[in-house]
Amino acid sequence: MLGKLLDFEQKGNQICFRFENGKAKITALTDSVFRIFSGNSTIRSKAVEKSTDRKPVELKVYREKDGVRISSRRLSLLVGDEFAVDFYWADGRPLCREYRGKRTYLQEMEKEERELMAGEGHFLAEEKRTHRIEVLKAIEGDECFYGLGDKTGFLNKRFYAYDMWNTDNPDPHVDSFRALYKSIPFFMARTDRGDYGIFFDTTYKSVFDMGKESPDYYYFAADAGNLDYYFFAGNSLPEILTAYTDLTGRAPLPQIWSLGYHQSRWSYKTEEEVRFIGDTLRKLRIPCDSIHLDIDYMERYKVFTWNRERFPDPKKMLSDLKNEGFKIVTIIDPGVKVEKGYPLYEEGMEKGYFVVSPSGETYVNAVWPGDAVFPDFGNPAVRNWWARQQKTLTDMGVRGVWNDMNEPATFRGEIPEDVVFSDEEQKTDHARMHNVYGHLMAKATYEGLKEADGRRPFVITRACYAGTQKYSTAWTGDNHSIWAHLQMAVPQLCNLSLSGMPFVGTDIAGFGSDATPELLVRWVETGCFSPLFRNHCCLSAVRQEPWVFGKEVLDIYRSFVELRYTLIPYYYDLFWEEEHTGWPILRPLVFQYEDDPETWEMNDQFLIGDRILAAPVLQQGVRRRMVYLPEGVWYDFWTGEAVSGKKAFLRDAPLDTCPLYVKAGSILPRWPVQQYVGEKEIRELILDVYPGEGECFHYQDDGETFAYREGGYNQYRFRIHPDGEFEAELLHRGYAAPYETLLIRCRGEETRMSFKDCQKINRKLW
Ligand code: GLC
Repeated sequence: MLGKLLDFEQKGNQICFRFENGKAKITALTDSVFRIFSGNSTIRSKAVEKSTDRKPVELKVYREKDGVRISSRRLSLLVGDEFAVDFYWADGRPLCREYRGKRTYLQEMEKEERELMAGEGHFLAEEKRTHRIEVLKAIEGDECFYGLGDKTGFLNKRFYAYDMWNTDNPDPHVDSFRALYKSIPFFMARTDRGDYGIFFDTTYKSVFDMGKESPDYYYFAADAGNLDYYFFAGNSLPEILTAYTDLTGRAPLPQIWSLGYHQSRWSYKTEEEVRFIGDTLRKLRIPCDSIHLDIDYMERYKVFTWNRERFPDPKKMLSDLKNEGFKIVTIIDPGVKVEKGYPLYEEGMEKGYFVVSPSGETYVNAVWPGDAVFPDFGNPAVRNWWARQQKTLTDMGVRGVWNDMNEPATFRGEIPEDVVFSDEEQKTDHARMHNVYGHLMAKATYEGLKEADGRRPFVITRACYAGTQKYSTAWTGDNHSIWAHLQMAVPQLCNLSLSGMPFVGTDIAGFGSDATPELLVRWVETGCFSPLFRNHCCLSAVRQEPWVFGKEVLDIYRSFVELRYTLIPYYYDLFWEEEHTGWPILRPLVFQYEDDPETWEMNDQFLIGDRILAAPVLQQGVRRRMVYLPEGVWYDFWTGEAVSGKKAFLRDAPLDTCPLYVKAGSILPRWPVQQYVGEKEIRELILDVYPGEGECFHYQDDGETFAYREGGYNQYRFRIHPDGEFEAELLHRGYAAPYETLLIRCRGEETRMSFKDCQKINRKLW
């Protein structure tokens, strides 16, 4: 494509190359992060929103026999003909090299053969032979690949191929799906030569073949847009994720109530039903912070309206529910109903805010309300307009907005690629804006909520692009109430976490198909640990609220929701850490223990932060399971028994038990059970101390506002030493209500300590 490398020129951190057939450049962001670029520089990244101008990086750039060598203190790049780029460590060890052979295509098929198969109903994806932009990298050892967003299947993406094209497909999502709702073109590679990450920053449809076509290489490719990728080198996956989220942004600290339990269904259709759900949750003492209203709260699915027959006084309803501790989250879809006299439609039409066909008429497709038009979210004026609409919700008392169908999903076929969309001030097409449509909608929603409400916005989105974490939480869309989807939830959420999206969850007990009592139990035992903790299901499915399957299920369900509520301070600490480091809340074991090959493909266990390991039961009828603990000593959460790691063993797991282990030296901050966050004034912090050596930074603030950004928070440091010495200290005091007492629980004993004057405490625990 670019042909022979002719010459180069260095300007600070940037090296510009001239090839026979075009130009390219490489920019050093740091010693170990490089941007590789060739194309049209007027396309602005949707993921990288802050300036990438960094401090000068010390580089040596010179011509060698095989190309141009660029050396930083940490890496050394060799740039050759065709803009092939090899990455080496500074000491010369290879890390990631271009594959210089030819592609070996998969199975050739005749047209008639394809037709024959199509006759029986087989769907055969058209695999392209060549792409305008195609980067092949050599697979040189035991590479494992992680990330790539919400893709189906297992944790390690090696040997699978995927498309980045936001897709709403309600069929049961299986391993062979190439695309789902989210396009996050970022992955990390764990190799025996070191770790690296690649972020291919294109919003166009792209392909990631991670060694399916050939064991010798993987490739990423697209047919439009730029060759524009970032390369992150590191000693560990955490280091790479920090660098990636430094570039694309991090999820801001959420409102603390959003870490509680959310109850949903398509749909709670009347005021009476919503009140019934709230009352029942309280009566049965199932802690809950939020009830979600699906599309039926609207008048004929017109966004930003209320169906006044079913909800005669929404403001009053929301205010009554608020008094019971419930926050209401409402769904908002992008499709605006075509209807004369509907103000949103009329105003959008008048201002030209909807996308248009190439010949200039407003483009119409169908979604829930029937004929609908689609806001042109790439246009900043449209985003502002949409942002302003959020006030109609917050004025009613709505506390969060759930953005759905924003791939965008359409019922009369996909929007043609040439439909005209804006990309800021430029006019472009659906092909470029499709994968960022949901991202931009979530951004507008976030900004509108922030303006209207002032508190930290709570947004949930189905469609995402890289960087959506700055604006929204996400759920994994329409899974099914099948065991295979409970199993998939673990790697899917872990890979989203490793793609920079920490605040994620699945629909607990599954959306489509019908839950069984046992599936509901095992799903809540797993799902109570996902940052977004919501039970939601489909219109047609059997009900799956916690009480519908009788007392035994209800009691187990309640105990896991209660467990989650006691761990909210720990989750909140993890979010604080995430905002500073990009490290997710849910972590696959490989994230912390990548030197241990047992963790590389661990699909059925995960970590919550660095301290708790969950080994949930994910199979029907199973009452014991194999647990693997990595190195070190771990404590069985339920029995307190100490177990040495680096071994697998069988653990009983009756229906009411999810095997959980806590790392020695952990200090877990906990609260008493509350029916909703803020029900009780908490002036005592519980600290569960697990003997060993460790420290815990605990974070506390008002749980809602942005005051923490101006120092309005308290930060504590707790330490435990192997000889039983415990230390507590308030490191930062900026929030007016620090804890007055600490309740230390260790080895079956409780010690209460006054912390009133926030003095430094030292105490022997054993
Ligand atoms: C989509 C969503 C689902 C929602 C339904 C109705 O299928 O994924 O969560 O309940 O639309 O709004």
